[in-house]
Order: sequence, then C-alpha cells, then structure tokens
Amino acid sequence: MADRTTSRLLANRASLAHKIGYALRHPERIRPYVRRSARDAWLRARHRDHVAYYRAVMASDTARSPQDAVGSATMDRWLALGRMQFDYLVGHGLVPGDRMLEIGCGNLRAGWRFIEYLEPGHYHGIDISPDILVEAKGTVVRYGLQDKLPHLTLANDLTFDFLPSGFFTVVHAHSVFSHSPLPVIDECLAHVGRVLAPGGYFDFTFDRTLGAEHQVLREDFYYRAETLVALAERHGLAARLMEDWERRPHGQSKIRVTVPARAPQPTGDAAAREP
Ligand SMILES: C[S@@+](CC[C@H](N)C(=O)[O-])C[C@H]1O[C@@H](n2cnc3c(N)ncnc32)[C@H](O)[C@@H]1O
Repeated sequence: MADRTTSRLLANRASLAHKIGYALRHPERIRPYVRRSARDAWLRARHRDHVAYYRAVMASDTARSPQDAVGSATMDRWLALGRMQFDYLVGHGLVPGDRMLEIGCGNLRAGWRFIEYLEPGHYHGIDISPDILVEAKGTVVRYGLQDKLPHLTLANDLTFDFLPSGFFTVVHAHSVFSHSPLPVIDECLAHVGRVLAPGGYFDFTFDRTLGAEHQVLREDFYYRAETLVALAERHGLAARLMEDWERRPHGQSKIRVTVPARAPQPTGDAAAREP
C-alpha cells in the first residue's frame, strides 16, 4: 500500500512513458482521453486566460453531468466526498457560529452539509462557473435549505475584493487548486489573509507530487507541498501539511494556512523607553 502511494506521488502524468503505461493498463480509457484532449485543445484555443478556459471546461462537463463535473462518478461518491470534507472540519472544531467561505463550491457537494450545519447566512460559496452555480442553487432547493440564506457568488478571480476584512473563521477549498495554475493559487494566497478572522484558517487540497511538478491538459496540476508552503510564507502566512488528512481515502493532500499572530507592539511608556 505504501509502495502504491509512493509510486502515485512520484508519477509524472504528463510524461509519454506514463501515458503509454496507463493506456496499456486501461485500454478502455484511451477513447475518452482522446476525446477530452481534443475538446480541451479547442477550448484552450478559444480561451487564453486560464479562468475563462476552466469555466468553459466546467460548462461542458456540467452539461453532461453536474456530479461528474465536480469529480464524482456516482451520487454515492458525491455524497461520500461531501461527508468526508464535512466530517473533517467538524472533527477540527467547526461550530455552527463559524463563518465559512468555500472557494470553488461547485454544486455544493460538501456545501449543502455546511449550509445545513451553520447558522443562517454563515455560508458563502464562490465559483468561477455560472453553470455549476445554477446546479448549486438546485442543491439548496433539493435539501430545503432556503431558510439558511446561503450566499452563492460568481467570481472572476480570487482577490475576494467584494468581501469584508477579518470576517471568515474558516475558508475551505476542496479540489480547486488541483485544477489551478500557480498564478491563480498565488493570487488566492495574496488575498486570503485579509478576509480571515483572527484565529481563522484556510484549508485547501491539492494534487501532490514528490517528483517534478507538472500538469495534464491544463485541467489537472501536480505540486510539491514545499512549493505551496513557500508560496504561502511569501505572503506572510503560515502553512502546514495536514497529516491526518493523508490517512483519508482521498487522492489529494491538504494544507492549512493561518495568519501568524503578530508580536505585540510596544505601547505608551514601554515605547517611549525604547532607544
Ligand atoms: C472539482 S470541483 C470541486 C467542487 C467542490 N469544492 C466540491 O468539493 O465538490 C472544482 C470547482 O472549483 C471551481 N474552480 C476552479 N477554479 C476556480 C477558481 N480559480 N476560483 C473559484 N472556483 C474555481 C470549478 O468551477 C469547480 O466548481
């Protein structure tokens, strides 16, 4: 098992050798892969900007199957993946009074559980895809959560410029940075500290590699944990890999980001006595 995990973390899915080996092991997946590559090449040619490109990918995927578009092949998996996210945060002390921002909320796979659990108005979901946000609204209706007044907002970037400072006790992004090039993650880390409440944290998952960082079809991105930790630190944040998440049956890793407490500034007499 440990060997399988290590080889997964070392695999370079962009390399020809990996693609050939994968195709030999899964011949039934060749045709869908070729179809996806052709579609993505077409969408990339039309949308140079990553967010616009990924929005078009989501429009195409959502039209086929909203649950597949967020990465769950079946409704059972959709429910299980949402529960995994919810249970993890409750296990880490999430309480109904928390104020949550979910980045890349999709069709509320986990979001509906957070909305149900949190006090009314305490859940804010943002996403770049209007198509998946329409599905998110449908999820609110399906679970009868209208009275919880969730906020669902279409975003074009991750500057959070429309949100208040120091407000969110929990910011959560599941399977979003696994689809994001580094400048998108950098933008998020540059701004997330402003919207975090004192003592709050930002959890995100990512596809981890122990080898060379790489991407596939500009849809799936693989990063070394050290790269993302260093990026967070460059923005004055503290970041650590969540070892307890590694034990979950989920292929991605999780990093928690916090704003380090500032050393108390000398005031009054103490400041006056300073040389
Ligand atoms: C794999 S889905 C996961 C959705 C949700 N987090 C979940 O666990 O069900 C990724 C979602 O992130 C959104 N997304 C991708 N890049 C984004 C970005 N830069 N900002 C906000 N949302 C983004 C996609 O539109 C999609 O809804």
